[in-house]
Order: sequence, then C-alpha cells, then structure tokens
Amino acid sequence: MASFNTMAGCFLASALFAMVVGKVSNALVSVHPLEKPAIAVAEAAPEAAGAAKPAELPPIGPKLKDANVQHGEALFKQQCFTCHTIDKGGVNKVGPNQWDILGRKKASHEGFSYSSALQQKGGEWSYEDINHMIAKPQAFVRGTKMAFAGLAKEQDRADVIAYLRTMHDDPKPPLP
Ligand code: HEC
Repeated sequence: MASFNTMAGCFLASALFAMVVGKVSNALVSVHPLEKPAIAVAEAAPEAAGAAKPAELPPIGPKLKDANVQHGEALFKQQCFTCHTIDKGGVNKVGPNQWDILGRKKASHEGFSYSSALQQKGGEWSYEDINHMIAKPQAFVRGTKMAFAGLAKEQDRADVIAYLRTMHDDPKPPLP
C-alpha cells in the first residue's frame, strides 16, 4: 500500500510538474517565441535517449548450429585479416592474433597493447561476447581500439564465429 501511495504521489507530482511546465512554457512562449524549440527539445529527450541504446542482439547459438565454416573463413580473410592473423603463434598486427580466441581471457594476448576499455571489460571470450564485438565493437566496448564497422548480418557473424571455433588447440567450447 505504501508503495502504491508513493507511486501515486510520484504520479501526481509529475502531473503537477507537467502542468507547471506547461504554464511556464506558455508564459515564456507568449513573451519570447524563441523559447519554444528549447522546450520541445527537452520534452523529446527521454525518447532520444531510449533510441541511443545499443540494439539487443538475439542469441547467436541457434545460428551457430548450421553455420558455414568455409564462408566464415572467407569472411575472416576479407574483413578481419587486415588487422588480425589467426594462425597459431601468428604475429599481432593492428589487432591481436586470434588463435584460440574462444574461451581466451579478454585482452590477454602476449605482446599486444590493448585499450584500457577492453582491459577493463573482464571475463573470457564467449560465443555471445564475440557476437557482440563483431556486430558493433564500439557498442560492446565503448572506447575500444577495434576500428571496425561491424558485420550486420547475423548469419555472417555466426559463420565467422564457427570458423574461429575451429582455430583452437583444446577441445572446443561446447556450442551454446
Ligand atoms: C581495422 C582493424 C580491425 C579489424 C578490421 C578487425 N579488428 Fe578485431 N581488433 C582490432 C583491434 C585494434 C583490437 C584490440 C581492441 C582493443 O584493445 O580495444 C581488436 C580486438 C579483437 C578481439 C578481442 C581480442 C582479445 O585478445 O581480447 C576480437 C575477438 C576481434 N578483434 C575479432 C575480430 C573479428 C572476428 C574481425 C572481423 C570480423 C575483426 N576483429 C576485425 C582491430 C580490428
């Protein structure tokens, strides 16, 4: 009951606030028409903030099950190889070597100077994390050095991840 009252109180308070703002803005508009756009921007702000949130990606697991490894390899050569080698013991280029990336601790490849943003991300590279990283690096790790626009197509990402999964020494992490 208490919380209902609180909520009702909040609602009333915001309704009152809206009324007051309405009155004030009317007054301002009549005095000075230029105030109107400023108020319109303030009212639109919550929506704009919502739209700026990174889009939720559906889980990649179902797409991985029938992913095309050959297509993934071709995509890797086209899209990733400029910056990443993937052979075992391969050099770091603009980005770190990708051998054994699945299950590897983030920002842990020897000899590569990672951004502090990626170093602070923490955890290991799961299927989902790589999915997010290659969909939109900046949305997943704000401030990452990976200057890559992203693979927009879900099946392309699944194919690349399926290929990454084959470049691995240990038993591969089970599919999600
Ligand atoms: C323009 C260069 C560039 C391209 C293209 C690029 N990357 Fe990267 N990538 C980087 C850099 C630089 C980093 C290090 C990011 C940091 O330190 O913030 C990185 C980091 C990564 C990481 C994390 C590595 C780790 O050790 O934690 C993964 C995974 C990754 N890239 C996968 C890919 C895949 C897959 C592609 C292709 C679909 C790709 N990248 C395309 C530059 C690139």
